[in-house]
Amino acid sequence: MPDRPRLVIASGNAGKLREYRDLLAGTGFELVAFDNGVEEVGESYAENARLKAEAALAASGLPAIGDDSGIELEALDGFPGLRSARLGPTQTERTAELLQRLQGVPRPWEARFVCVVALAVSGQQTRFFEGECRGEVVPEWRGEAGFGYDPIFLVPGTGKTFGEMPPEEKRRYSHRAAAARALLGSGALQSVVEESTR
Ligand code: IMP
Repeated sequence: MPDRPRLVIASGNAGKLREYRDLLAGTGFELVAFDNGVEEVGESYAENARLKAEAALAASGLPAIGDDSGIELEALDGFPGLRSARLGPTQTERTAELLQRLQGVPRPWEARFVCVVALAVSGQQTRFFEGECRGEVVPEWRGEAGFGYDPIFLVPGTGKTFGEMPPEEKRRYSHRAAAARALLGSGALQSVVEESTR
């Protein structure tokens, strides 16, 4: 059997990597994790996703996806958004800091998760795929599944936070799953596979 084509996932975030391994299973790619330590200096999710994907492509010569994501609180004008990963040194402190900033703000704390995936392929323009998930931030930490802000993000109609959902349930609702569906539906990965086997 010929080697499977490889696709780099430009991330060192174990939670994201687990989700991509699940979301992209069945695409025919061997997924390779690569953390290039790119600084998130862009002014949009797309810019950061592009920086990660293009740096991975440049370093490896392989097609690469970069992901940038964040949580946005309506009552805080979209904060922390692009700064979601930098609210504190550990995720526990980041979650506590976000809840601290919401003290005194009337509930419900409407929020959304956003994810932009950039696909960088040699000789092609980088392409972008976006997903969002709307919900509500709750003050108590619920569940231990997932990663990041999952335990305080309540998904409407389910009565559960992402922290209380097994992976197959989170992927029905999540911003990352929606972005991955857009990527898969575009046919962009299929053409990478075809090129590599030509
Ligand atoms: P970045 O995309 O690596 O910049 O990370 C964005 C921040 O949002 C990190 O603090 C993540 O933990 C958080 N984040 C991104 N996606 C998710 C998710 O699916 N669940 C919970 N937190 C997330």
